[in-house]
Amino acid sequence: MSKLTSYVDTSNGFAIVAVPDSLLRLTEEIIRDKLTPLASRSGLEFDALLADIIRGKHFDAVKGKEFRMFDAQAVDRWMYHDFCQDFFKEDPSLYISDEEKLGYPNIYWRLVRGGLASDVGPVHADHWFWDLGHGSIPPGHRRVKTWIPLRQDPQHVGLSIGPGTHRMDFHYEKVFKDGKYKPVFERGPVNHLLIPAPVRVGQAVVFHDRLLHGGEVSPVQLRLSMELTWVMRDTAESNVIPSS
Ligand SMILES: [Fe+2]
Repeated sequence: MSKLTSYVDTSNGFAIVAVPDSLLRLTEEIIRDKLTPLASRSGLEFDALLADIIRGKHFDAVKGKEFRMFDAQAVDRWMYHDFCQDFFKEDPSLYISDEEKLGYPNIYWRLVRGGLASDVGPVHADHWFWDLGHGSIPPGHRRVKTWIPLRQDPQHVGLSIGPGTHRMDFHYEKVFKDGKYKPVFERGPVNHLLIPAPVRVGQAVVFHDRLLHGGEVSPVQLRLSMELTWVMRDTAESNVIPSS
């Protein structure tokens, strides 16, 4: 079993892991390079740049997923950090998903304005999207998600999760929108299952593909976070095909 799957194959379905400072700095550098051309003036420190983008007229440009995805070169830089390499060394089947069919691993970030619930999506389990055809992985493989806060209000963590919900079944409706099937799910009946993820800047939450979760909005502060999906061979006994 890979380390990542051992983090999530627990009764809670998630784990909190430390993210090295050097990886946080690298991530900021990648995002700064992307945002700087949209800023109202040059030479801003990273936090001032984020505030400038939030206030500025270009925020809509920052909302689209295409804009928020690392380019191939940024992905290379990120993946060759020891944080990732340690996972790759330990499980040779491991890779980062390409659900957007870019031809390289999909790593993306999100900037959320304080007080604007429309900047985050509804509660869901990631496997719903995969089941509805948003990307595919090879047979005998599975997924594990990682969410990393880069800036967030300590009083209003940017992600809610439902401990143990990966072992429950939930019904969602599916609607066809923008050329894709999307899940529609009401948060109300499961609200009591959700807690703020116990994750701060300098940590990541690694969670099961079936775990319920959703983005949260601070009433006052912006949030910057990033995420990716690991794919690895599924070594759970029930899924291993005997060799003879
Ligand atoms: Fe998700």
